[in-house]
Amino acid sequence: MRQRDRSALRTGLIATLGAAIVAAAAIGAARAASAAAGHALALQYCVKCHGVDGKGDGPAVAAEHLSPPPGDWTDKEDMAEHPDVFLRNIIEQGGQAMDKSAQMPAFGKKLTPAQVNDLIAYIRTFSR
Ligand code: HEC
Repeated sequence: MRQRDRSALRTGLIATLGAAIVAAAAIGAARAASAAAGHALALQYCVKCHGVDGKGDGPAVAAEHLSPPPGDWTDKEDMAEHPDVFLRNIIEQGGQAMDKSAQMPAFGKKLTPAQVNDLIAYIRTFSR
C-alpha cells in the first residue's frame, strides 16, 4: 500500500471511530425513564386528583366534583388498554383534547418530554 493510501485509510478509520463515539454519547444522553422521578412529579402535580395509591381517589375528586373521576391505575385490564402514546397525549394535552374529561389538565407546558416519560414509568408501576 502506498503511503498516501495508508494515511487516507487511517483518516477514514479515525472519522468512523469519532462518529461512533458521538452516536454512543447521544444514546447515553437520552436517559432511561425513572419511575422514582415520576413519583416525585406525581406528588407535586397529580396525587390531589389521582391519589397517592393511583386509584383515582385523591382529595380533589370530592372537593372539585370530578365527574367522571380519574381512572384506577392499579386496574391491570384497564391500563393494558392504554398504550404509552395515550398516556403521553392525555398528560401533555389534557383530557379534553383526548375526548375525555376537561378536568384532567394539560401538562405539556409544565413538563419536559423526559418528565412525561418518568410519569408514564411511574403510572405503570401500579399495574405490574
Ligand atoms: C384536577 C384533577 C387532576 C389532576 C391534577 C391530574 N389529573 Fe389526570 N385525570 C383527571 C381526571 C378527572 C381524569 C379522567 C378523565 C376521563 O376519564 O374523562 C384523568 C385522567 C388521566 C389519565 C388517563 C387514565 C385515567 O386515569 O383515567 C392519565 C394517564 C392521567 N390523568 C395522568 C395524570 C398525571 C400524570 C397527572 C399529573 C402530572 C394528572 N393526571 C393530574 C384529573 C386530574
